[in-house]
Amino acid sequence: MNALNVRADGTYLDATFGRGGHARLVLDRLGARGLLIALDADPDAIAFGEREFGGDARLRLVRCNFRDLGAVVRDLAPQAGVDGILMDLGVSSPQLDSPERGFSFRHEGPLDMRLDPDTGVSAADWLAEVDEAQLVKVLFELGEEKFSRRIARAIVEAREAEPIRTTSALAALVEKAMPAGAARASRIHPATRTFQAIRIAVNAELDALDEALQAAIESLAPGGRLVVISFHSLEDRRVKRAIREAATAPPASRRMPSAPSFSPRLKAIGKLVRPTEQEQSSNPRARSARMRVAERLADAPVGGSA
Ligand SMILES: C[S@@+](CC[C@H](N)C(=O)[O-])C[C@H]1O[C@@H](n2cnc3c(N)ncnc32)[C@H](O)[C@@H]1O
Repeated sequence: MNALNVRADGTYLDATFGRGGHARLVLDRLGARGLLIALDADPDAIAFGEREFGGDARLRLVRCNFRDLGAVVRDLAPQAGVDGILMDLGVSSPQLDSPERGFSFRHEGPLDMRLDPDTGVSAADWLAEVDEAQLVKVLFELGEEKFSRRIARAIVEAREAEPIRTTSALAALVEKAMPAGAARASRIHPATRTFQAIRIAVNAELDALDEALQAAIESLAPGGRLVVISFHSLEDRRVKRAIREAATAPPASRRMPSAPSFSPRLKAIGKLVRPTEQEQSSNPRARSARMRVAERLADAPVGGSA
């Protein structure tokens, strides 16, 4: 909340409403003339927001993918853009804990994993069709799974016999495919990385993040803050890159010694923030959280240079 720097009469965007934990804190700081636009792709999150916050005229809930946040801001805050954007990436605890959403190997349920269960293909349908080489790539790159080849082979063999339709069927298959010693020695459940990789692929999460970061930079008013909390090194890398590219001129190269004039649109605020040990022990799901903050700069005057 400190990083977002909420002004009582400002307009803010929470791109990942979830169960409204952050939204409530923003609303606590807004006066009667403030506005909070809150997005979530998950219909359960929006229904929760309407039930619990429905009476608050300062809150506009929109069900959409955050990659479309630019259009939402143009519609709801057309004059000046927004004074702050918060993104708290990934899945929420209620999503992880609802067996019917299929996000967790800890609960028996259909293998779905879609943030918006009304669009795209479920994890079960994706696994039924995906090419083996592509599956190896997804497990290796998005899950950083070192047994990606063995696991992909086991999935392809299993689906020839019968479709993989449940979380427990996939979890058992992955556990069996790993070398026994590695599964036993692992600090995390052997299926953790596979589930994470498939979830990121099914929801095209990294592409959505790249698009949302660019739209966020465009949608901020000068002085507005961008605050992003990520839970995966691949996400954090993208956030870091988007901030760096908007904040610093690309180095001049030999092929293009006089680089075109660059005017920074963001200024990084502080360094990477990680949860304290105390926070990690009181909220273990925050363990891998990384927060980055940047501030939107005014556009350079026409004809000016950086
Ligand atoms: C970690 S939770 C946010 C929790 C929230 N900050 C709170 O205080 O309750 C992430 C939320 O973002 C949503 N989400 C993730 N990726 C999204 C995307 N590309 N578009 C829209 N919503 C997304 C998920 O559905 C989930 O509800």
